[in-house]
Amino acid sequence: MWDYSDKVIDHYRNPRNVGKIDNADAVGTAGSLACGDQLKIYLKINNGIVTDAKFQTFGCGSAVASSSILTEMIIGKSIEDVKKITNKDIADQLDGLPPEKMHCSVMGYEALEDALKNWDDYTDLDDLRNENKESSDKIVCTCFGVTENMIWDAIKTNGLKTVEEITNYTKAGGACGRCKNAIQDIIDTYYKKESEESTLSPAQKILKINNIIENQISLELKKDGGDITLVDIQGDKVMVKLRGKCSGCKNSHLTLKAFVETTLKETVDPNIEVVEVQ
Ligand code: FES
Repeated sequence: MWDYSDKVIDHYRNPRNVGKIDNADAVGTAGSLACGDQLKIYLKINNGIVTDAKFQTFGCGSAVASSSILTEMIIGKSIEDVKKITNKDIADQLDGLPPEKMHCSVMGYEALEDALKNWDDYTDLDDLRNENKESSDKIVCTCFGVTENMIWDAIKTNGLKTVEEITNYTKAGGACGRCKNAIQDIIDTYYKKESEESTLSPAQKILKINNIIENQISLELKKDGGDITLVDIQGDKVMVKLRGKCSGCKNSHLTLKAFVETTLKETVDPNIEVVEVQ
């Protein structure tokens, strides 16, 4: 038995903005009846503001609640703000969804994205949540029609790390299971790319260390009449000179290790070692 928040129950029992807008400016669809749930969202847009939104959902209580709260979240908002809404925002607005039901929030996000893509006045399609997407989007899970980009987005927005989590959020992998290896490959590729992007070049590392020492560590030490200057960087070894009250202080070793080194380890690289030079 799943544990639903009061908000989920309220939006399921009293869904807001149910129905269709006949002369809608944008209509978006996500999911499919064959896969068990589908959402169609209708938007009325005036001067870049969503003035009305309605939905028709075929699905479970979480799908109804996600659709209902989504319409409340977007009415009165600018398109710029609406574009920033993620499935996590929808789930958060509902005070959370059971992990197995997170795909309902993803369906809301996808229907909204589809509506924006279909909006005639939308002229900035390149900017639409696609920074990391390949131009071709191939279907990974044929049972549920889930594409590579949909899985990539779910990982990026929600920090998903396992195939089981992907199934909870997108349904992919939840039927025949033939796509599970492909899902695992996407997870591996995502985190490999993320770790490559987060690795600093030597020049970037030097700049960052210098910046942290000048704008963070030095300012803290100055509060107690001390100071610090960067002397040299050799690999992971950072040579510094303590100044003012810190110089010659009997606790200087503690300051170096517990404050200076810890700060640099946390903000730049866990392998950094700080050495005091005279
Ligand atoms: S292809 Fe994904 S569950 Fe069947």
